[in-house]
Amino acid sequence: MTGTAETTGATEATGALPAELDVFRPELRANPFDAYRRLRETGRVHDTGFGIHLVPHYEDCSAVLADPDWGHGYTAGINPFRPGVDVSQLPGSFLLLDPPEHGRLRSLVAKAFTSRAVAGLRPRITRTVDGLLDAALEAGEVDLVQALAYPVPLITICELLGVPAADRELFGAWTGDISRGLDPDAVLSAEEKAARQVAVRAFDDYFHDLIEARRKAPGEDLLSELVAVEESGNRLSAKEIADIGVLLLIAGHETTMNLIASAALSLHRNPAQRGLLCENPGLVADAVEEFLRYDTPVPFPTRVAMRDTTLAGRDMPRGTGVVLLLGSANRDPEVFADPDTLELRRFSGGGSAQRRQLAFSHGPHFCLGAPMARLESEITLRRLCERAPEFAVLTDEPDYRPSVSMRGPARLPVRLAT
Ligand code: HEM
Repeated sequence: MTGTAETTGATEATGALPAELDVFRPELRANPFDAYRRLRETGRVHDTGFGIHLVPHYEDCSAVLADPDWGHGYTAGINPFRPGVDVSQLPGSFLLLDPPEHGRLRSLVAKAFTSRAVAGLRPRITRTVDGLLDAALEAGEVDLVQALAYPVPLITICELLGVPAADRELFGAWTGDISRGLDPDAVLSAEEKAARQVAVRAFDDYFHDLIEARRKAPGEDLLSELVAVEESGNRLSAKEIADIGVLLLIAGHETTMNLIASAALSLHRNPAQRGLLCENPGLVADAVEEFLRYDTPVPFPTRVAMRDTTLAGRDMPRGTGVVLLLGSANRDPEVFADPDTLELRRFSGGGSAQRRQLAFSHGPHFCLGAPMARLESEITLRRLCERAPEFAVLTDEPDYRPSVSMRGPARLPVRLAT
């Protein structure tokens, strides 16, 4: 990569990181922030001991994400995160592809996810949220993840794709195995890698059946649109459609679920900020940007040097892997004042005083679902504050989900009504 600043104390290749800085360890899932701070303070590029490097600073993460010298390298056969694994065995579709395949597939679905297209979903999402809140308020005490954070984005993406609501029970287990399977192979057990394969195949069969059904009887959904593209001879195979379906389904709910659950926990831990939001519901869009910064739900995107390059003054030969610590970048004090404080007004005022948070990534792979994720989270948090302003989280230290790539509480017991 060209144009990055000169070395400022990058750590040498020392082998494995000390345990307290190994951000892949489950013990650091709930609170990785001290480790992030120490990584930022002690270097710009850190060797992990298994052939890849951690990048903790905002400027470096942002530069790599926008730089065509960095990609995924599966098609070129140089991905060090899953050596020897063919991309067709993975659940990522265009998320894991480089140009030109990446752009071709992304452009086929992009128009369904523009801000304008997504704004039309507002009444449906509001109905979904209110229906779920009715049931939760009646129950009084619920697990907020199962009652709200999980179903809101799942129902929304299923409706958009044209996946029957009744099938949600069927693929619930596969999505967990797939999201865990998106972690680097070095942190997965043999069983977890095997479970990923089983889930990818099960999903593949599931979507092939659904595609057949849409071919016979098209609906007004995204899957039917993709089938029509395939039939017009636009170089889109049934396997590619199935892969896109899996990507949208997983990316469309495992992520937003974590954002909503983490936001509820943060509001519980910061009563003054919660009061501010409940008294000023119009603040919710800015608040969501701050929740994304504060508890970044997809904290570890990876990239591979597609050719010999440099990063922070270090040589990065072709095939070198980097993990971009977006959760750390979003708490970089060089960019965000008082970064460990939740400040829901941080992004208010047109954003001119603040740099953009990086939770949706940057560059060609910038999250396609960002407008949808924002809308779902805004509606859910707003209605939660309006309808259950006194909600109480019943644990201070919830368990976190096992996934490295997607971070959020596994369960969040709450009392909504007294
Ligand atoms: C890509 C985060 C919600 C669809 C990404 C990436 C990040 C991200 C960080 C890029 C990874 C990289 O650069 O390697 C999030 C967060 C979400 C969220 C934090 C919620 C809070 C959604 C939703 C959808 C979605 C609701 C809807 C289907 C996608 C897709 C990509 C993507 C399709 C691949 C884009 C590409 O490779 O060109 N997301 N996402 N995401 N996201 Fe999201």
